[in-house]
Amino acid sequence: MSLEQDILNQIATASDEPSLEAIRVATLGKKGSISEQMKSLGAMSPDERKQAGAALNVLKDKVTDAIGARKAVLQEALLEQRLALEKIDVTLPMRAEPRGTVHPVSQAWEEVVQIFGDLGFAVAEGPHIEDDFHNFTALNMPPEHPARQEQDTFYFNEKADGSRMVLRTHTSPVQIRTMLASEPPIRIIAPGRTFRSDSDMTHTPMFNQIEGLVIDEVTHMGHLKWILTEFCKSFFEVDDVKMRFRASHFPFTEPSLEVDINCSWEGGQVKIGQGNSWLEILGAGMVHPHVIKAGGLDPEKFQGFAFGMGLDRITMLKYGIPDLRAFFEADLRWLRHYGFKALNVPTLAGGLS
Ligand code: DAH
Repeated sequence: MSLEQDILNQIATASDEPSLEAIRVATLGKKGSISEQMKSLGAMSPDERKQAGAALNVLKDKVTDAIGARKAVLQEALLEQRLALEKIDVTLPMRAEPRGTVHPVSQAWEEVVQIFGDLGFAVAEGPHIEDDFHNFTALNMPPEHPARQEQDTFYFNEKADGSRMVLRTHTSPVQIRTMLASEPPIRIIAPGRTFRSDSDMTHTPMFNQIEGLVIDEVTHMGHLKWILTEFCKSFFEVDDVKMRFRASHFPFTEPSLEVDINCSWEGGQVKIGQGNSWLEILGAGMVHPHVIKAGGLDPEKFQGFAFGMGLDRITMLKYGIPDLRAFFEADLRWLRHYGFKALNVPTLAGGLS
C-alpha cells in the first residue's frame, strides 16, 4: 500500500479526535513520516527534488484536508449522540402530584394573612412561653383578677424569684409586645399557637388564635365593625353576611363585645351568610386605657380596638370540618381528604380556596 493510501485509511477509520490528532503528529508532525520524507529532498538532484517536492506538498495538503474533514464528521457525530441522550419527550405526563397536602389550618392562616394584609395590617409575633406580665397583668388582669382562673393556664415551675412562666393562654400578649416595640399608628394581626389545659370535642390543649390590634389617635368602633364585616365576607367567600355585635366583657377592652355571624344549618351543613341562626366567632372591643398604658403609650392621646378569634374554629366553619381534635391527630387519610394542594397558594387575586 502506498504511504498516501495508508495514511488516508488511518484517517478514515479514526474513531475519535485524540486518535486523529495522533495520526496528524505521526505524519505532519516534526518527526512525522511526511516530514521525514521532506528532509530527504536535500540529497536529491534539482530535477528529482522539484518533482518529489511537488508530490510531497500535494500529499501534505491531502492529508491535512482529510484530517479536517474527518474531524468535522466526528464532531458532528458527537453532537448527534449528545442530543439523542438529552432528548426530552414533552408529551409524557408530568411527575405524579406531590402526596403531601397543606393542613386546613395552615391554609386558613394564610388566607387570613392575605385578607388583613390587603387591609393594611402587618403580621406580628410573640413567644409561646410568656411571662405573667405580658399574658395577664399588662392586659388588665392583675394577680388577684378572677379572669385568670378561667384560663386553665399551663404554668412552668417557679423561678428563684417566685415568678412562673406560662404557655400563653391567648395571642393577646402580642398586643403588649407590639405596643412596647413600635410607634402608632399600629395595625397588626398576630396569628399563632395558644395553650390551655382543656380537652374535649371542641377544645384541645393547643389551639390557634388570631389577634388583631389597631392603635391610632382617632379610631372607633365603626372602624372595628367595618373591618370585621369585610373580613368575614372575604374569609367565608360570601357576598354578604349579617353580623351581630353583643355586649360582653373582657378585662382588656372597654366596651367589649362578642361577634356572631348568621348561618343556616339546612341539611346538617353549616352555610355562612345564609339563614337565621347565629354563630359566635370572635371577641373584640376598644382597648382598655390600662392596656394602652401598659403598652407604654399615652391613653389620653391614643386609643384603638382589638379582636381575637379562634383560627381552628373559623377553619372548621369554612371547610365543614366537624371535629376539632382531628386537626391535631396527624391522620394521613384525614389530611389527604381535607388538605390543600401545596402549590395552590391562597391570594386575593387568584382566589382564597
Ligand atoms: N384573648 C381573648 C381570649 O383568648 C380573645 C379576645 C377577646 C381578644 C377580645 C381580644 C379581644 O383582643 O378584644 O379569649
